[in-house]
Amino acid sequence: MLKEVLGRFEPRRENLLDILHAIQEASPTNSLSKEDIEAVAKYVGITPAEVYGTATFYTMFSVKPRGKHIIRVCTSTACHLLGGETVLEALKRELGVDVGDTTKDGLFTLEISSCLGICGVAPAMMIDEVAYGNLTADKIKEIIDQYRRGG
Ligand code: FES
Repeated sequence: MLKEVLGRFEPRRENLLDILHAIQEASPTNSLSKEDIEAVAKYVGITPAEVYGTATFYTMFSVKPRGKHIIRVCTSTACHLLGGETVLEALKRELGVDVGDTTKDGLFTLEISSCLGICGVAPAMMIDEVAYGNLTADKIKEIIDQYRRGG
């Protein structure tokens, strides 16, 4: 898989973010492993430490195995003022995990995020690439159930 993903890009440093993105997206653990980091470093001709530094600098990347779906709850001002904390608590309860953790069934990883750019529908979250707004505790349960059913 790794070789195939790398082959899609020119081996240049300026492609680093795109390469890391593509590898993480293809990863069954939604993350970048030590082997991935070493292979990317070799491919673009920089040190593994530099790749690791990039992978840990951006919140969109994870060097820790994650669940199938990544939930990112906005904790910036608009969402915070409109009940973001309640939403986060509802998610923790519903999933039985804390921020940064993955559910036992491997389905979800719960993360927090700064502004998602959809403040008009605060409080908001993203699950993978899908945005959800005007959230309430009830809505959270509905949305999570939908994913559990495979939707
Ligand atoms: S403050 Fe939450 S989406 Fe902007």
